Amino acid sequence: MNKVLIISNRLPIQIKIKDNEIEVNPSVGGLATGMKSVYKQHGGSWIGWPGLVTEEIDKHLKEKIVNKLNEEQCIPVFLENKELEEFYDGYSNKTIWPLFHYFMQFTEYNFKNWQTYVDVNQKYADVILENADGVDTIWIHDYHFLLLPNMIKQKRPDINVGFFLHIPFPSFEVFRILPWRIELIEGMLGADLIGFHTYDYERHFLSCVRRLLGHDVVLNQISLDNRIVKVDAFPMGIDYDKFQEAARDQSHRSIGDKTDIRKEIEKYLLSAPDRKLILSIDRLDYSKGIPNRLRAFEHFLEKYPQYRGKITLVMLAVPSRISVEHYKQMKSEVDELVGKINGGYASINWTPVWYFYRSMSFESLIELYNSCDIALLTPIRDGMNLVAKEYIASRTDNKGVLILSEMAGAAKEMSEAIIINPNNFGEIANAIKEAIEMPVEEQNEKIKILQKRLQRYNVEKWAQDFMSALQKDSSEHKTHLAKKLSVTIKNDIIADFKNAKKKILFLDYDGTLVAFKKKPSDAFPDEDLFNILDSLGKKENTDLVLISGRDKETFNKWFGDKSYNLVTDHGVWFRRKGMDWKIIEQLNSDWKEMIYPYIEFYVDRTPGTFIEEKNYSLVWHYRNADPELGIQRAMELKDELTSLVSNYNLEIMEGNKVIEIKNSGINKGRAANHLLSFHNYDYIMAIGDDWTDEFMFEALPKETVTIKVGLSQTLAKYNINSPEAVRIFLKSLIE
Ligand code: UDP
Ligand code: G6P
Repeated sequence: MNKVLIISNRLPIQIKIKDNEIEVNPSVGGLATGMKSVYKQHGGSWIGWPGLVTEEIDKHLKEKIVNKLNEEQCIPVFLENKELEEFYDGYSNKTIWPLFHYFMQFTEYNFKNWQTYVDVNQKYADVILENADGVDTIWIHDYHFLLLPNMIKQKRPDINVGFFLHIPFPSFEVFRILPWRIELIEGMLGADLIGFHTYDYERHFLSCVRRLLGHDVVLNQISLDNRIVKVDAFPMGIDYDKFQEAARDQSHRSIGDKTDIRKEIEKYLLSAPDRKLILSIDRLDYSKGIPNRLRAFEHFLEKYPQYRGKITLVMLAVPSRISVEHYKQMKSEVDELVGKINGGYASINWTPVWYFYRSMSFESLIELYNSCDIALLTPIRDGMNLVAKEYIASRTDNKGVLILSEMAGAAKEMSEAIIINPNNFGEIANAIKEAIEMPVEEQNEKIKILQKRLQRYNVEKWAQDFMSALQKDSSEHKTHLAKKLSVTIKNDIIADFKNAKKKILFLDYDGTLVAFKKKPSDAFPDEDLFNILDSLGKKENTDLVLISGRDKETFNKWFGDKSYNLVTDHGVWFRRKGMDWKIIEQLNSDWKEMIYPYIEFYVDRTPGTFIEEKNYSLVWHYRNADPELGIQRAMELKDELTSLVSNYNLEIMEGNKVIEIKNSGINKGRAANHLLSFHNYDYIMAIGDDWTDEFMFEALPKETVTIKVGLSQTLAKYNINSPEAVRIFLKSLIE
């Protein structure tokens, strides 16, 4: 791998100017904390904003700042006040952030902000292009730069562009609300690989691509005119060992070396040793459900008064986006709620909520993770939520209970946590009680499973997986681009065809011989087409096969009296010339390689389940899983597979504690090979336009002349532009 550039709005370190000197601090937020563990391994640079506006930097300091950042392999992009207001606070955080988190009521549609969003994306594109010498891969992060992938691709199609969205991607019904929806999707499609935390976000995105732009989507690949874009889910992990080691290190410290926060906690617990601590850590953001959490905690104290005096909520809220109105409002709401709970329930030696409004050092964070018996994380929507993972990774004593909102991406992988609906106070109150009362053995068991998973799929593995998928796709896709049928190639093909002794010609119908019409029944064969086909059909030593997804009745009506071979229903039925219709029986199982990883993902997240691979099917067994979880996951898997397999003639069968995906035994490739078995052909040609024809291109012998109509990704050797061009080409075979 050559040089890699990482792009995100916030650099992993933030610069402040104090008394004309520069001060360096680590950035807060999942993207920066996660990526900083891995970016240096890729030998490139990280381009982003260091947290300063141009107006506050004088010339002399600027050089110092740039040098300081360069030492850390960072290249700064400074924003002006106006850009900060309209790009960052404005379009990024008042339009995309609320809409993508389903806060439609907070979403602003402001043209000026949009314009600046476009300009700042362009500003980044310029900086990237200036620094792109020797760079073969660019990895762009998050919602601030949805337009950037395409800006880069337009100028440098040779560079692999990856894009990862760290926040949810909303469903089509929500995304369509945006006035600039097409521009944003087109911007993202400049990437070769687009990553999301969960399959749900991926599914939403693909559905928007299909509905808004009408591109072909097969499995998780989008066919553009001249490229393929791959979309996949990569759930971001954490630097597991860093948290484990730091936590271990702290637990071995002598009293003198303990952090202040630890000393405070120990003092507090001294007065009531059976007191339990519940932890909550987030940026102060409306998506994190902090007011809900406080209300649910209050409800808990009301519903279970026996726990008053015995439980304290330790709440760290990190200041975030403070110049955006909704964040200011939420700060007041949270202040008020904390005041109300503490005012209403506190006693002389018990404070129900310890509230910190600031950020904390890594050391103090570990101390908090380590000292609290329960973590209560209740986001209304959250792309992932790394705090949930960090809490589990820091529990060196194998004790602790995680209560996690089902609306966080992390909930998909952390099913051993107590999963709650963040809007259901009763459920949260009961979850807190369940967590307090959970036997230590059960805590141990669950934490160990969670830790094992976090350790295996850590942030390094996440980044590696993304990078290798990006590299792999780029080489695969290059090979998938067919060659244009130039005059020379065409002449060679015609000459070989004419010289061959026994030849067979497979022709798809719709999109290949006739252009698509609004109503399929309008795309009937015209006189010109009959003339071409009749002449080919009569040619000596030539077998003509029309191979189509059309039904047998339609083909019978159109071509029943003709002397061509016919294959219909994607290969279910065939009729050799002069004979009766028959069904083909042999099966193919190439799809298994593609479906396998999806099922494997469920195996990883559902303990006790496994995959059985049979000749023509894949079976997911969940008999040994926790019964309720097994049923829930089986429903999810079935739902996921249904949309995946719709293009592949597969069947999903629900058996006794198994889900089986089997080949329904039909495709054009199998049908074409079946027809080959009747003679020894020394020349085979196949022409088709869509994904069903790819089966034919793939399954036919290597020497087959395969021609794809249109420019999308294909396994065919050659491209031809349109059905009109196909007809001209066929005429030249007849002459
Ligand atoms: N964090 C931090 N300092 C703090 C509080 C939190 O660096 O005082 C980090 C925390 O360790 C985690 C990140 O901020 O890595 C928050 O990521 P998460 O995915 O939970 O939420 P986000 O802020 O990205 O929405
Ligand atoms: C989320 C976003 C990140 C962002 C972080 C902190 O994690 O996905 O892109 O950096 O929040 O937000 P801020 O606006 O302070 O950068």
